[in-house]
Amino acid sequence: MARLVCVSNRISLPRKSAAPGGLAVGILSALKRTGGLWFGWGGETIEHDPGDPDIHIREGVTYATIELKQNEYELYYNGYSNDLLWPLFHYFLRGMRYSNEERDAYESVNRLFAQKLLPLLQPQDLVWVHDYHLIPLGRLLREMGVQRPIGFFLHIPFPNIEMLRVLPSYAELLNDLTHYDVVGFQTENDLKGFHSGIEYLFGAEAIRPDGRIRVGDRLLRAEVFPIGVDVDGVQAEAVAATDTDVVRRMIDSLMSRSLMIGVDRLDYSKGLVERFSAYQHFLETYPDNIGRITYIQIAPLSRTDVRAYADIRKSLEQAAGRTNWRFADTDWTPIRYLNRNFPHGTLSGFLRAANVGVVTPLRDGMNLVAKEFVAAQDPENPGVLILSNLAGAARELVSALLVNPYDTRAVSHAMQTALSMPLPERRERHAAMLDVIKRNDISTWTRRFVEALEQSQREEARVRVVGKK
Ligand code: F6P
Repeated sequence: MARLVCVSNRISLPRKSAAPGGLAVGILSALKRTGGLWFGWGGETIEHDPGDPDIHIREGVTYATIELKQNEYELYYNGYSNDLLWPLFHYFLRGMRYSNEERDAYESVNRLFAQKLLPLLQPQDLVWVHDYHLIPLGRLLREMGVQRPIGFFLHIPFPNIEMLRVLPSYAELLNDLTHYDVVGFQTENDLKGFHSGIEYLFGAEAIRPDGRIRVGDRLLRAEVFPIGVDVDGVQAEAVAATDTDVVRRMIDSLMSRSLMIGVDRLDYSKGLVERFSAYQHFLETYPDNIGRITYIQIAPLSRTDVRAYADIRKSLEQAAGRTNWRFADTDWTPIRYLNRNFPHGTLSGFLRAANVGVVTPLRDGMNLVAKEFVAAQDPENPGVLILSNLAGAARELVSALLVNPYDTRAVSHAMQTALSMPLPERRERHAAMLDVIKRNDISTWTRRFVEALEQSQREEARVRVVGKK
């Protein structure tokens, strides 16, 4: 059987706790099922040239990590990846900044990834590259002679060509994607964005009637593979965490008040400032809730060396401060805003304890916290999910209370609706969402993508045989 090799910028080492939701949790659950190799940046920077990858083997998964030089980290990770591609792909043009030096570093770090990965590859491997940091990697591996199937999955949104064209190197980026055998997106909308780019650059005839894309001698499949969560795992973790000291203490501290919870990386795309304003509006508009609800926002710091992230941090501290200043009492704090992370199991326990989960990004590829919230609930007495209709997850979780995250009044109204929702309606909505996330859980996502890669390999072999005749 082929070995699965996942490659991503960030990897989640077994001894460290993974950030909430996100790529690392997804890849880890996938690899724990299939076994295989996970190759990526270990999160450390150095001053000298990086050496051979560090290898750790744990529970059937081999972790291979490399280090990056400090200036490469600056230009490739903080710069090109997170100060250019991230805002652009999330439709935040104002936050975007382009630099040729960063573009060169993006290429050279991708080359470094390819060079360090190459000696670890085996003849039967299926290579699966993840996310926007590593778009050129497939082309570079091909240039180095790798013939095995290589797939790419984008965890974040893919913009329409009219947005993408703002990027001076948009043609290279699109062309690089055509070097993969399978390119996967979170939603139909992202796939449409990709098709719009392919059509713009290579003409409408590049997209064949069967949906595959032909560019020169390359033939690829571009499809939608919405990422899921490990539903049974999250459920079990959430139940187990209920009896832990940390979750008990949190519940006791509520003193029977309702709990609304948000768990997001501290990122401007997550809509936290807008969410805090909506909560303040909610307390003003529905004053019966004053003193009766606690909103806990967990927001671990993220990408702290990028200016936009420092700015959003300041705005949030002010926004939380304003609401607490206005409404807090000697025995009640309306918002508990925590910039720290918790182990995944503890977070699942917190999610289970919540009456309302609030997930209101301004734009999001999928948002796995929304799915984890559903998985963590007690089906007999579930909490209510308020979900942004600009998150990929809204395509599947249609039984959530869907809101436009910019609409303060609508979000605050949804908070009131969620808190007063009768049990039968809560159960019905939750059951519908649980069914959806069970049908498309993390193993379905992995299996579908790997099958697509294997199929591309069979097609490739057929083409070779026919070519020989
Ligand atoms: O897809 C975006 C994403 O990779 C998430 O999946 C993940 O949670 C987050 O970004 C991690 O960001 P970083 O690696 O920059 O900390």
